[in-house]
Amino acid sequence: MRKIRKAVFPVAGLGTRFLPATKAIPKEMLTVVDRPVIQYVVDEARQAGIEHLIFVTGRNKGVIEDYFDIQVELVNTLTERGKEAELSLLDSLQPKPGTASFTRQQAPLGLGHAVWCARDLVGGEPFALLLPDMIMQAEQGCMKKMVELYEETGGNILSVEQCDPAETHKYGIVGRAEDVGTGFRIDGMVEKPKAAEAPSNFFISGRYILQPEIFDILETQEKGAGNEIQLTDGMLKLAARQDFYGYHFTGRTFDCGSKEGFIEANVAFALWRPDIREKVYDNLQELIENVEPKFAAAAE
Ligand code: UTP
Repeated sequence: MRKIRKAVFPVAGLGTRFLPATKAIPKEMLTVVDRPVIQYVVDEARQAGIEHLIFVTGRNKGVIEDYFDIQVELVNTLTERGKEAELSLLDSLQPKPGTASFTRQQAPLGLGHAVWCARDLVGGEPFALLLPDMIMQAEQGCMKKMVELYEETGGNILSVEQCDPAETHKYGIVGRAEDVGTGFRIDGMVEKPKAAEAPSNFFISGRYILQPEIFDILETQEKGAGNEIQLTDGMLKLAARQDFYGYHFTGRTFDCGSKEGFIEANVAFALWRPDIREKVYDNLQELIENVEPKFAAAAE
């Protein structure tokens, strides 16, 4: 079985839900506590043993490439000032030379198209795909557990979580067949079904391990929902030929592409940080207790 060595991060979306900030800052560079959203996702990939990072970027996303490069002047200044802790933090996050690649999606034609843009950099091997606006909080990273399942089953793996059964129309939903190892076999996939037509309430939550045959399918994939080339449409075709398995992630997921999810992520990750958690907790409590009367009344 081929090892999962490479991870694709599609970061070419327009991020319209975060305008006006995303006029000038990619949403993946918005900070959760003190590091950009994309750093959390890269950390998760590294924890899973990923060796090579592939970013599919777009216009206005150059700052992502800069972020993963060494800032020589900054390093020199920190060295002169004896800032050892800061230097070692930067060093620990720095991808080694030649282990990060960037390609451009020239127009935001959809997630399926963004993934297809990575085909030459991935080559003919199975790969991880992580949607960078979904960040996950768990002792064991979601992708690490998916790689473990992949080593048991082969095929294609999707992370899934359970949604409110009345809200299946917001997600890509999978059908759950028998349990296999630490996961289950997927026997159907439907994009945004009505509650009555949904095969389950397990939704695809932004992490994938895919076989390279997906690229041939995406090459000729026509536009689907939202007039975009949809990854789910491509996966449906692949599922007719190859096995798909679900890994049920039970940690917390934050959709940092939405304002509520992004703010929640900031609070949740701040409360996970030993250096600031107590102060943040006290400040939040004080804030909530003294919030405008109508919210305070509702909270009682
Ligand atoms: P979203 O559906 O969140 O779209 O994309 P978006 O454009 O980023 O954000 P909104 O909805 O306008 O606020 C899901 C993921 O797919 C990537 C995005 O960067 C995001 O990580 N994507 C989407 C691309 O890379 N290219 C595309 O053409 C579309």
